[in-house]
Formats: sequence, structure tokens, C-alpha cells
Amino acid sequence: MLAASAVSQSPVDPLAGLVVGDVPPPKPKEGWSVVRVIASSLNMHDLWTLRGVGHPAERLPVVLGCDAAGIDQDGNEVIVHPVLADPDAGRGDETLDPNRALLSERHDGAFAQFLSVPTRNLVPKPDWLTFDQAACLPVAWTTAYRMLFTQARITAGDRVLVQGVGGGVASAAISLAAAAGAVVYATSRSEAKRAEALKWGAKAALAVGERLPERVDVVIETVGEATWAHSLRALRPGGTVVVAGATSGTNPPADLSRIFYLQQRILGSTGCTRYELESMLRMMKATGVRPVIDRALPLGEITKGFQLMVDGQLTGKLVIHPPQP
Ligand SMILES: NC(=O)c1ccc[n+]([C@@H]2O[C@H](COP(=O)([O-])OP(=O)(O)OC[C@H]3O[C@@H](n4cnc5c(N)ncnc54)[C@H](OP(=O)(O)O)[C@@H]3O)[C@@H](O)[C@H]2O)c1
Repeated sequence: MLAASAVSQSPVDPLAGLVVGDVPPPKPKEGWSVVRVIASSLNMHDLWTLRGVGHPAERLPVVLGCDAAGIDQDGNEVIVHPVLADPDAGRGDETLDPNRALLSERHDGAFAQFLSVPTRNLVPKPDWLTFDQAACLPVAWTTAYRMLFTQARITAGDRVLVQGVGGGVASAAISLAAAAGAVVYATSRSEAKRAEALKWGAKAALAVGERLPERVDVVIETVGEATWAHSLRALRPGGTVVVAGATSGTNPPADLSRIFYLQQRILGSTGCTRYELESMLRMMKATGVRPVIDRALPLGEITKGFQLMVDGQLTGKLVIHPPQP
């Protein structure tokens, strides 16, 4: 079958390790299901693997891709919950299982014609979502959902700053927070992306680091070094920053005196539970909010998609279509 794999890693030339070619299809195994992938989508995680961040070289080669929507061996339309974990190992929260793994970390991922996952990880795809929309949800959208509703516990009227507009998580956070009745501010390096954020429900979209018209209750942080100081400055006393990523770097100045003096709360967030994916689907049905899709590309052109991500050219999710047998 055709697949896109990481065969080597380089922090400076990550795409040199990306190979699109034939690999053996997954074999059926007890308790696991084989899914024919109709659509997948690109995540920063795929680029981290190629850069050698968070993925040991001894686990190469590996088929990349954390997101999938497709058809299982029994003909059911499914979304693949991407966190492979023991639901009982993390005190009722599978993201706290110390042995959890995201799809493509310990098992081949979704940039392929077929995928094998534990049957527990299959969630029925609602018929009001297209396969392309469904393929955007498992990583980026559920991460945004958990950051907003599980970690920050936002309620209608809360003021929320989302750092970045173009990212998969950021675009989801803007859309979901607005749909929940929050007052949403966003930042972006790009004027065109700032204009998009207003269409998704942001009250205002500002340049990176620009002063907000008011302090916010919650900041959604996935950018890291480039925006961290602004995130702390933008927060009201007692407010909360939820951090799930650091695309621009992981070592910002901590500003400890601001954190303790203003009693700011900093919460980490990783992944989501299967239950959160199902809850988010109910919210999306009720509110009509849908993923922002930049474009779709055939699997054979995935290198072009990675380059767009490296260059910061994407607005929302980039969908990948494997060839159908
Ligand atoms: N913890 C988890 O479970 C989890 C899940 C998903 C993602 N993540 C992490 O979250 C991060 C975001 O992932 P993603 O898939 O949404 O895609 P992404 O392509 O990394 O998103 C990039 C975002 O960062 C902004 N950005 C990048 N460089 C910047 C800079 N130098 N200055 C200011 N803004 C900058 C972009 O905003 P503009 O282009 O609009 O300026 C965009 O919103 C990644 O680091 C990823 O690893 C973590």
C-alpha cells in the first residue's frame, strides 16, 4: 500500500527523511481493527517526528499521520481516536496513562491506505460530518476542546485569547470558544489570517504581541517562546494560561514574579480522551461549528503540504487523501 513514512530525522532538513512509497499493509490482529483511510490531516507532530523531537531514532521507519477518518473492516464509517492508552491506567483519564502513545509514535500512522488500531479507538463518524471534516478532529480539534472546556473550564462570556490563528489547534480554539459564547481575541503574524479569525467568531484579531483592549480570563497557548510573555501580560489576576505546544520554541522567560504576584495559573494539556472526542462531536452538532480546512492534497503530494506547514503558510487544517483501492 502507499504510505508516507519517516525514515530519518533532521532538525534542519526534516523533509529529507520523508519517503512516500510502498509499505506492507497492516495485518489483522486480535482486538484491533483495520481501517481503510479515506482522509487524514497534517499535524505539527508529524514535523516534530521528522525533526527528531519526541520520537527516538530507533523507532524509525514509521508511517506518519495521527488523524484518520475512514471505513472499518465491517463497513462502518469511523473516526480514529488517536490516543492509544489503557483507559484504566490514568485514574480515569487515559491521557494520564504513563504508557500512552499517539498514533504514529509506537504504531504506524494514518498517512497510508490502511491503518490498524485498537477497536476501542474507533468512534462512529456522524453523517453530518464529511470524511475531510472528520479527519481534522482527532488531534488538533480535540486538543483545543480539552484546553478550553476540561482544563480552563471556560463559560459563556469568558474572555479568551488564542495565540496564533493559522495553526490547527488555534483555528479550532477560536471556533470552539466563539461557539461556546466566549469573547475571543486572537493574534497572528499574517493580516490575511487575522481577517479569517474574525469570520470564525473572534471579536478582534491583533498582530503578535499587540496590547489587547482588555485583560483576558484564559489564554490558549500553542506558539511558545514567541508569544509567552504576551500571554502572561494579557492575563487578568487569577487568570489561566493553558499550554499544549511550543511551535516557536520551548524556553520562554518564565516571569516568575508576575506569575506569583498576579496568582496566574498555568496548566499543561496533552491529547484528549475518547469521551472528550464524543462530547466535542455533540457540541459541533448542536452549534454547527465545523473545521477550518486550508486545502486537501493527494497522499502522493504530501511533501508539498509539509513544506506549507514549515513555511507557516497554512490557515487551519491540511487534509490528505490516500488513493482508494
Ligand atoms: N499537547 C498536545 O496534545 C498537542 C496537540 C496538538 C498540537 N500540539 C502542539 O501545538 C502546536 C501547534 O500545533 P498545530 O498542529 O496547531 O500547528 P502549527 O502549524 O504548529 O501552528 C502554528 C501556530 O503557531 C503560530 N506561530 C508559529 N510560529 C510563530 C512565531 N514565530 N510567532 C508567532 N506565531 C507563530 C501560527 O500562527 P500564525 O501563522 O497565524 O501567525 C500558528 O497558529 C505544535 O507545537 C504542536 O506540537 C500539541
